[in-house]
Amino acid sequence: MKIITEEILIKLIKTHGLENYLTDLMKVLKEDFSRWQEFNKIPRPSMQVPGGVLELMPICDDKHYTFKYVNCHPKNPQTGLMTVVATGQLSRIDTGYPLMFSEMTLLTALRTAATTALVTDKMARKDSHVLAIVGTGAQSEFLVKAMGLVRKISEVRYFDIDFLAMDKFEQNMKNSKFKLTRCADAREAVKGSDIITTCTACKAHVDVIKNSWINSGVHINGIGGDTVGKTELEFKILSRSKIVIEYFDQCVIEGEIQRFDKREAKEKVHAELHELFTGKKSGRINDSEITLYDSVGVALEDYSALRFTYELANRYKLGQELNLTPILKNPKDLISMLY
Ligand SMILES: NC(=O)c1ccc[n+]([C@@H]2O[C@H](COP(=O)([O-])OP(=O)(O)OC[C@H]3O[C@@H](n4cnc5c(N)ncnc54)[C@H](O)[C@@H]3O)[C@@H](O)[C@H]2O)c1
Repeated sequence: MKIITEEILIKLIKTHGLENYLTDLMKVLKEDFSRWQEFNKIPRPSMQVPGGVLELMPICDDKHYTFKYVNCHPKNPQTGLMTVVATGQLSRIDTGYPLMFSEMTLLTALRTAATTALVTDKMARKDSHVLAIVGTGAQSEFLVKAMGLVRKISEVRYFDIDFLAMDKFEQNMKNSKFKLTRCADAREAVKGSDIITTCTACKAHVDVIKNSWINSGVHINGIGGDTVGKTELEFKILSRSKIVIEYFDQCVIEGEIQRFDKREAKEKVHAELHELFTGKKSGRINDSEITLYDSVGVALEDYSALRFTYELANRYKLGQELNLTPILKNPKDLISMLY
């Protein structure tokens, strides 16, 4: 089976080009979301542990099965560790044999950014050009780069409670085409923005963005509120917004909408992404509505990232071939490996 290490994935993305990777992944995601009904899926099982959450994200269609293991430990950076790390696997359905085991920390950032850009394209005003990002941690540059592919962004306004995270963001984005505006707080970042993206990590209900700061016509991507007891938006924003989500059964447990009861949440949600991408439900219909993508991250996004990465690894002949499963002359003679 193919092993995609961090080093191999970096080589693969540099060979293909980061922008090309994001653009192509957006196409793959759209294709896969558009055949949503073909997938066997469940809301991800998650385990709340002290200081974080551990999640397993399985899904399959009639060709491939994938799963991702991912965590979120917001205090990790205090000891030099990342908040979110992930690994994942792609397997054949017909035999159950694994085809690829991969790093998925970078892949998570890429697929989250690509999905967010696809949604932004459907929901943000066409003339949106000012983007706010609140939380300039590991995911932030990926999100900004991907949204720059779907709207003519001229200015990025950003804020993080950690000044060093803002310094890092500035450094990484300094050669971009965007005017970078460092802000003193989240309110200043949101002011005058057409698209607001929150991507903070705090395991609590936090009003990172207040209702009174939100003007008509904006699109909000709520990325960081993604598990039980972890939300980022003042609750009143939800009742003013046209809400789109990935997958109701999971989002109602983990998303901003977890604060509604299930019946209210059902009434409040405008569309799941597959309905948006197939045109069954509308995106934005006028310049005044407030729209919200309440993202939690679903297994289908990882499926798309894994199947696309596998395709590229074969195309560029990358990936280490290692046996993590036995190769036997007689498939019933497992013990022979030890003789
Ligand atoms: N929806 C998805 O598919 C998806 C995918 C990946 C990550 N996430 C979530 O996104 C969040 C960010 O992930 P990351 O890897 O960038 O984490 P990170 O720890 O690298 O960055 C988070 C940043 O948020 C900042 N922050 C925390 N509270 C803040 C506040 N009130 N105002 C402004 N900034 C604040 C922190 O200082 C930090 O720099 C996490 O909560 C993670 O669970 C969601």
